[in-house]
Amino acid sequence: MTDTGSPPRIDTTRLQGIARAYTQSAVFYAALDVALFTHIHNGATTEEALAKETTLRLIDVERLVTCALSMDLIHWTADGQLANAPDVDKFLVKDSPRYAGAWMMFTRPDVPMWFRMTELMLTQHGTRLGMYDDLTVESAKAYHQATSSIGFGAARRFVKTVDLTGRRHLLDLGGGSGAYSITAAEANKELRATVLDLPPVVVATQEYIDDAGLTDRIDTVGADFTTGEFPSPADNPVDVVVMASNLPIYDGTVIAGVVARAFRAVDAGGEMHLVGEMLDDDRTGPLDSAMWGMNELICGSLGRSHTRAEVEGYFTSAGFVDVEITEFVPNTLARCYGRKP
Ligand SMILES: C[S@@+](CC[C@H](N)C(=O)[O-])C[C@H]1O[C@@H](n2cnc3c(N)ncnc32)[C@H](O)[C@@H]1O
Repeated sequence: MTDTGSPPRIDTTRLQGIARAYTQSAVFYAALDVALFTHIHNGATTEEALAKETTLRLIDVERLVTCALSMDLIHWTADGQLANAPDVDKFLVKDSPRYAGAWMMFTRPDVPMWFRMTELMLTQHGTRLGMYDDLTVESAKAYHQATSSIGFGAARRFVKTVDLTGRRHLLDLGGGSGAYSITAAEANKELRATVLDLPPVVVATQEYIDDAGLTDRIDTVGADFTTGEFPSPADNPVDVVVMASNLPIYDGTVIAGVVARAFRAVDAGGEMHLVGEMLDDDRTGPLDSAMWGMNELICGSLGRSHTRAEVEGYFTSAGFVDVEITEFVPNTLARCYGRKP
């Protein structure tokens, strides 16, 4: 007879999983190093074939495949061949236009710093701009090669969900590769855009604009968005402001200041969209949003994760109305909208 009244047994399983969670990242990086998913996609669907393609020992292929199977990155087909999971096949096959390996690998060099977290906290490490203090044109280009591998996908989602019909001038704060400006300008032929980002970054931005053939409609401004008023030319005032994927880099005072200056720059009737990793109001998740806040310790800034209520507060304090937060990428990004009356 089953005793349904007894409390659930408490054991160490969950805690052990957390203690060894880093092993999953390490296996993932190694699989990308040896292009495991690309080889599977290209027809190496047995361990013997993978050993040949990767030049690894059969035992290491077997270890890697076992881990990748357990992480649901790959699976067995009905006829006993290996196959990629749908997201793996879409984003982790080299030479595909959707390849996002650059972004997946981008934070790998930070791994040693994550394991020095306690020391970083005890020494009260951090400056306002963090890693952006030391940016060079070369490092900005490498950074945006990685961000663009996912940024253009997010930008396509933005353009599908936000109707920019009739809008004339989009100001893209911290626009990086220009993904949002380029995608929005491609979809809205009347729209001009200004990408404002740090001076070394806009050199990289210009290359993306040139490649898209949009130099006549998209400008860049090299500036620090944490200070100074934003450009809004009298002959074509800004009527949409976008700020995407830079929320946790700064604390509440800085973000509130950026939103307030965006409000001043935008024309009456214009709108602002802040797309970022936001926490639920009780800060119990999403985990990814929490970790992006901690990432700022590792990157050496004073930034942190912000709750949805905080972001709403930055908008309403600035003067925006009809403020609303909607899911953008579930469990990853939310979008805050506000209109200037
Ligand atoms: C993760 S990237 C996002 C880029 C782009 N918005 C996108 O979603 O693809 C963050 C961007 O914010 C920019 N940024 C961070 N702090 C900034 C500042 N103080 N002033 C201007 N740009 C800044 C960075 O240089 C970088 O390009």
